[in-house]
Amino acid sequence: MVGATTPYVPGKTKREKMLVFGLPRIDDDEIEEVEQTLRSGWLGTGPKVHRFENLFREYTGAAHAMALNSCTAALHLAMVSAGVKAGDEVITTPMTFCATANAVIHAGAKPVFVDVDRTTMNIDPERVERAVTPKTRAILPVHFAGRPCDMDAILDIARRRGLLVVEDAAHCIEGVYRGRKVGAIGDVTCFSFYVTKNITTAEGGMATTRREDLADKIKMYGLHGMSRDAWKRYSDSGYVQYDVVFPGFKYNMTDLQASLGIHQMARIDRWWLRRQEVWRRYDEAFADLPVIRPAPPEPDTRHARHLYTLLVDNKEAKISRDDFQRELFERRIGTGIHFKSLHLHEYYRNAFDHHRGDFPNAEYISDRTISLPLSAAMSEEDVQDVIDAVREALLHGNR
Ligand SMILES: Cc1ncc(COP(=O)(O)O)c(C=O)c1O
Repeated sequence: MVGATTPYVPGKTKREKMLVFGLPRIDDDEIEEVEQTLRSGWLGTGPKVHRFENLFREYTGAAHAMALNSCTAALHLAMVSAGVKAGDEVITTPMTFCATANAVIHAGAKPVFVDVDRTTMNIDPERVERAVTPKTRAILPVHFAGRPCDMDAILDIARRRGLLVVEDAAHCIEGVYRGRKVGAIGDVTCFSFYVTKNITTAEGGMATTRREDLADKIKMYGLHGMSRDAWKRYSDSGYVQYDVVFPGFKYNMTDLQASLGIHQMARIDRWWLRRQEVWRRYDEAFADLPVIRPAPPEPDTRHARHLYTLLVDNKEAKISRDDFQRELFERRIGTGIHFKSLHLHEYYRNAFDHHRGDFPNAEYISDRTISLPLSAAMSEEDVQDVIDAVREALLHGNR
């Protein structure tokens, strides 16, 4: 938006205020709920966490939902609870955030990367099948950007090979795959409520499962491995004795975080609709530009619309992705890179002897991708500012 108060930079539309990438939307009810929790005297895990878990269980149709302090924690607990251990392999995608692979490593196992499909950016089931070895314990697909993976093919491999399916649905809270809600498909599904996510509790996560045995372990291992309901030990129902049955972790969510979550859940589908509308605006506005826009959702699926990613090819667009990102930043538009393929990062390169060339599709995306702001907190002006800045940077940006 170029307004009367906006300092003029020749040739550059410029906002006064930075449009932060992944702007969270916090309304008055959340603020009041947090205040009420602060005044209640009970800040830790308690009734609000349980309310949030119930809302999430209803929304996903999962039998069990366990609120945790991050999706990373959910992924780690999923691995440990399912018995993934040293010597095991877990097949996953390199086109993800480091937390996905780190959860496998923290369980003592090895993440085995296989390449993604260049169009959907999701793990390619045919490559998963080829990567299965006698050491494979689990498949860990990531519903990238909110696009559900080809779960029929993945579940089929898992059934035939006796593998567990743990889904990283950090981007995909609202996703639906062929009539099944994400969260009620694989053995365990892990969600994120980090600040930039579709709903937020500042930091937070959720694990869902239909399996009672895994639900019990996730609950217990997530709170030091203390026996059931130990979170109540200081409540007004009197001190509860507990027994430590496993050397667990400190991964529980607090009522302070859940105070945000319970109100965010009430608006989740309204916000999804708003992001879908922003997505449609971007698609229309960028149709004539020399960039690759996200592929439309697969039939009979609901895309959770978490990330709107453009692929900027140096030759086609005549600007590099990094210069394009800088141009947008100069116009005060925050962006993200999702993701630099994990096998190109120093740690995974060294630890698992990976090289450029190992996963050509992930590399293709990694070198070109940029995520534009996509949030229900964006105003119409914000959306227009992004459109103007993208068009201008691509058509007239520094070369
Ligand atoms: C694909 C993916 N998995 C896992 C995570 C980790 O989530 P959290 O920050 O809640 O631990 C993130 C992002 O933050 C992510 O993008």
